[in-house]
Amino acid sequence: MTFDVSKVRAAYPALADGYAYLDGAAGTQLPEAVVDAIGGAYRAGLGNGGGAFPASGRSDQITAECRAAVADLTGGKPAGVILGPNMTTLTFRLAAALAADWGPGDEVIVTRLDHDANVRPWVSAAARAGATVRWAEVELPAGELPAGQFRELVSDRTRLVAVTAASNVLGTRPDVASITAIARAAGALSYVDGVHATPHGPTDMRALGADFYATSAYKWSGPHVGAVVADPRLLESIRPDKLTPAPDTVPERFEQGTLPYADLAGVTAAVEHLAGLGDAAAGTRRERLLAAMTAAQEHEAQLFAVLLGGLAAMPHVTTYGRARSRTATAFFTVAGRTPRQVAEYLAARRINVWDGDNYAWELTGALGIRAAGSAVRAGLVHYNDREDVDRLLEAVAGLAG
Ligand SMILES: Cc1ncc(COP(=O)(O)O)c(C=O)c1O
Repeated sequence: MTFDVSKVRAAYPALADGYAYLDGAAGTQLPEAVVDAIGGAYRAGLGNGGGAFPASGRSDQITAECRAAVADLTGGKPAGVILGPNMTTLTFRLAAALAADWGPGDEVIVTRLDHDANVRPWVSAAARAGATVRWAEVELPAGELPAGQFRELVSDRTRLVAVTAASNVLGTRPDVASITAIARAAGALSYVDGVHATPHGPTDMRALGADFYATSAYKWSGPHVGAVVADPRLLESIRPDKLTPAPDTVPERFEQGTLPYADLAGVTAAVEHLAGLGDAAAGTRRERLLAAMTAAQEHEAQLFAVLLGGLAAMPHVTTYGRARSRTATAFFTVAGRTPRQVAEYLAARRINVWDGDNYAWELTGALGIRAAGSAVRAGLVHYNDREDVDRLLEAVAGLAG
């Protein structure tokens, strides 16, 4: 499959502003089609869901379409797609619901590779329940999360294993399928954070063995909406806090309050947009998504080789992580400058990067760089091109000495 990045870029109005958007790991820009879908939903007239009149029916239709789209993207079932404001909120919600039947003697496993959003909700819930937290460690400096350690960590006391499908700073893609298999064999659930992984390649939550798979649309060209996908039968067994008159059905009972209907229309448009990357014209939307995301992954990998090679050749730059399998995400420091100074210098040259711990709290602590302001993150997504990479490399080269 060919990947025409200039055609992809033309779909994104914001990319015309002259900046190199290397901050995609923190949030992507929106294609015109997504902006149109959100505006179109409002223009058509929306009502609160579940009413007797057409505008309400449109909201219900948008919600159903959004569940189907997220299911296609992740390989889940529409009836198992929980929608909400973002991954963090949904994870706190699910942690509270799942921990309702944890107690002393139960154990939950978290990792030092994960974004804090897949750590602290479980640590807090475990503390309230009197359950024990066990930690999976990262192998440094490679930044791998060895799957074998989970054989020691998991036991018949384990209730849940929370693990990321990709680190949001080092890009490490752990062997999630092996980790979830170890959890399942011990009767434990797995909660896989796919927020960073989803935009960087094809997703099959069943192949990952994920009982729960979390993702956020704003990382893949959509609006600020989060989703957690699970088997509807599993959701039937969980009773989250809810208002008495609110639906008790699955997945609705996990969705507190009113959904952002117009944004949900944008989520569906973003999935359609992703399915159209590359040149796959035939097949179901799920098939087109798998092909398109594979093409996007190859595009990112080619650019990433240039980016990493360029940074590695600069004596004044230190890069972090070299996992065997990783997303196109670079994390680096520059001698004699704080990460914020580097980000400001790059911003002055119209290059957007993130600096700081990026909420990879445990990991930046383990790397020993948190106290010094952590590092600079330059993340590639499907709409980045060679010019973005060359501009970054040239600017960072200018920081030598
Ligand atoms: C890997 C990862 N997990 C979780 C989150 C939190 O997602 P949200 O902003 O949807 O709560 C992020 C956000 O940057 C992330 O990169």
